[in-house]
Amino acid sequence: MSSNNTQTQEWQVLSRDHHLAPFSDFKQLKEKGPRIITHAKGVYLWDSEGNKILDGMAGLWCVAIGYGRDELADAASKQMRELPYYNLFFQTAHPPALQLAKAISEVAPDGMSHVFFTGSGSEGNDTVLRLVRHYWAIKGKPSKKVIISRMNGYHGSTVAGASLGGMTYMHEQGDLPIPGIVHIPQPYWFGEGGDMTPDEFGVWAAEQLEKKILEVGVDNVGAFIAEPIQGAGGVIVPPATYWPKIKEILARYDILFVADEVICGFGRTGEWFGSDFYGLKPDLMTIAKGLTSGYIPMGGVIVRDEVVKVLNEGGDFNHGFTYSGHPVAAAVGLENIRILRDEKIVERVKSETAPYLQNRLRELSDHPLVGEVRGVGMLGAIELVKDKARRERYVGKGAGMICRTFCFDNGLIMRAVGDTMIIAPPLVITLAEIDELVEKARKCLDLTLAELEK
Ligand SMILES: Cc1ncc(COP(=O)(O)O)c(C=O)c1O
Repeated sequence: MSSNNTQTQEWQVLSRDHHLAPFSDFKQLKEKGPRIITHAKGVYLWDSEGNKILDGMAGLWCVAIGYGRDELADAASKQMRELPYYNLFFQTAHPPALQLAKAISEVAPDGMSHVFFTGSGSEGNDTVLRLVRHYWAIKGKPSKKVIISRMNGYHGSTVAGASLGGMTYMHEQGDLPIPGIVHIPQPYWFGEGGDMTPDEFGVWAAEQLEKKILEVGVDNVGAFIAEPIQGAGGVIVPPATYWPKIKEILARYDILFVADEVICGFGRTGEWFGSDFYGLKPDLMTIAKGLTSGYIPMGGVIVRDEVVKVLNEGGDFNHGFTYSGHPVAAAVGLENIRILRDEKIVERVKSETAPYLQNRLRELSDHPLVGEVRGVGMLGAIELVKDKARRERYVGKGAGMICRTFCFDNGLIMRAVGDTMIIAPPLVITLAEIDELVEKARKCLDLTLAELEK
């Protein structure tokens, strides 16, 4: 254990003796002990050692309105006293879920006015898989089962979520993907574009969708699922040609399009949804995270009216979760959306804070360690390289993890995806806090470079 603080040590012992942590090397964590986060306010976290840390990742991309908003705690407390639990099964409902479904439909793209609630984004994508297959079965085309997804996409950690995702290190554990899910290349120009220009590569990557539809046979393809901007894969902003070309292809074939908006939804791009940002017309949208600003677990699937019309003809949909539309989560979600709307947080991201963040982040492009800075809205990525011109990496050095550790030790959370540093701060971050984020990032890039060149 790394700490001398007895309180921290006590918690680390509890971790060692009783906890199995998500996405962690159990053995290594037992030896090292986790960093213990004790409280938070605005965009800042405090750990049990008393360090104040600027949370450049909004938790896990979710704390849109920032930490410490009493209104959400009050909404939860009021709902817990009134109706702490009831379910939406077997023809019952409760006001918070219904009111939240309406509030979501008001901010969703036109023609998407129904929501199926889940407890998380992963459950949302499990629901997507079942909804897509159910939809085609009702339409008399049960063979349209295959879902096309992308390599290095992230759609969650349940069996369906991890299968839809294209993370090979997840597939390796547990014989994934399950049958009926196929993957096409991702539009990651910096990492995989080779000698093509970004625009050429964007068209090429989009054409892989058409190629796959033809290979599988359109009679067998139910849907294409994609994040408007890949988050966990490394904030991969597709080249400008990518989405227009994908839209052209989708228009040619009778398949559903699912936008996984778990990260992009609820304002992160400066629009309410990533689909609004790119002018996409999804049939289904997976949501979670920003829906409740992470204060309480909740996810869902927003469904286009034409799809609902078909589903209405299909009898029972044999799917749902004990906590689908949980009243306390719904009350929190409703208050969260009220705050996003009343305080014009999404508008402010678009007009003021996102342009400022993107400009300031791009100043880091001049750093010798930085091969590319990209981003949209409150999403950003910094590629760490040895040679800028050739986009060449430091092989086997773990540059990303070194940088991530310097960040943590210097009061900033930036996540490392390989050697790509990523940020997604709370949407309420101020201009002064953006300055602090970028200055800390530069300092940590300096420290990382010095370490790599030792
Ligand atoms: C795009 C996307 N989809 C789905 C998920 C899974 O959501 P959850 O962790 O709530 O199950 C995530 C989580 O990061 C995500 O980024």
